[in-house]
Amino acid sequence: MAEHGGIPSLSDEPKEGVVTGPNAWYGRTSQGIDWHVYLGNASQVLAAFNDKSFHCVVTSPPYYNLRDYNVEGQIGVEETVQEYVNAIAEVMDQVYRVLKQDGVLFLNIGDTYYSGKGEAQGKDRKSKKRRFGLRPVDKSGGVGIGIRPKNDTGADTVEHFLPKDRHPQQAYEWINYRLVCATLNSRKKTHEDILDPFHIKNGWFTIDFPSLFIKPAKGLNEDLAQRIQLTIDILRLNDESTCWQSRERYIKVYCLRQITFDHLLSEAPFIAFELIRQNLVESIREIMAYSSI
Ligand SMILES: C[S@@+](CC[C@H](N)C(=O)[O-])C[C@H]1O[C@@H](n2cnc3c(N)ncnc32)[C@H](O)[C@@H]1O
Repeated sequence: MAEHGGIPSLSDEPKEGVVTGPNAWYGRTSQGIDWHVYLGNASQVLAAFNDKSFHCVVTSPPYYNLRDYNVEGQIGVEETVQEYVNAIAEVMDQVYRVLKQDGVLFLNIGDTYYSGKGEAQGKDRKSKKRRFGLRPVDKSGGVGIGIRPKNDTGADTVEHFLPKDRHPQQAYEWINYRLVCATLNSRKKTHEDILDPFHIKNGWFTIDFPSLFIKPAKGLNEDLAQRIQLTIDILRLNDESTCWQSRERYIKVYCLRQITFDHLLSEAPFIAFELIRQNLVESIREIMAYSSI
């Protein structure tokens, strides 16, 4: 909500680009608080407000390449991700300017740009109401926009380490939350016998090259090695169509020098750490037989 002085009153000379008249409304609540609603391009509407005039901004902009809202100047249908980020940033420059120093911004933004397990979805089977015409991703035939699925193991999600069905008192305890990908979350189900990521020590799990299979490290006590193996089995970390395939993709692009070691370190740190630990950062190309390509 803006402080009174910050809001351009409807009788003010409108700044260029600001929608007024039929696209602006104002009134007063029963408690005497003035409200104004403006419809228009977000960065242009915000440009009319004074610096530091708002306590709070709540916004839910379109996600990239998901829907066509059929409005001029809409965000989300840019050709590239960079252009999309630029469009959001342009609005955020204005948001930053109009927010007070101790103001709060709630930005609801998803990294969804792709769905249907790699297939374009001509229909939204879940809800017709959620469809706003043909999505750009549909028009392009899904993968045609040149973006492949983000990963092989599903989106990031939050997991209850102690299953909430069996431990309802732990359902809202931060200490019980773990970040996990959706595929592994569904494989863990209600298992309580896998290792807690918070307790796993570097070097317990190893990657065998060139097979890319995950194995318990040699030399661990038998009990621990068995728990590591159980975790590998339950989560199917060597399943070829998901986890293994993901490792293979990263190793391949690294060996072919399409990504740097720093990139590997940030995107697939377990693989990168294993290459360091096993002293294979350079020789991996020969081991994986990519050196002659
Ligand atoms: C995800 S929806 C938000 C829906 C809204 N939170 C609601 O509950 O109705 C995104 C909205 O942003 C609008 N939009 C797209 N580009 C815009 C722009 N440049 N300036 C202002 N709004 C824009 C779309 O028309 C759409 O209504």
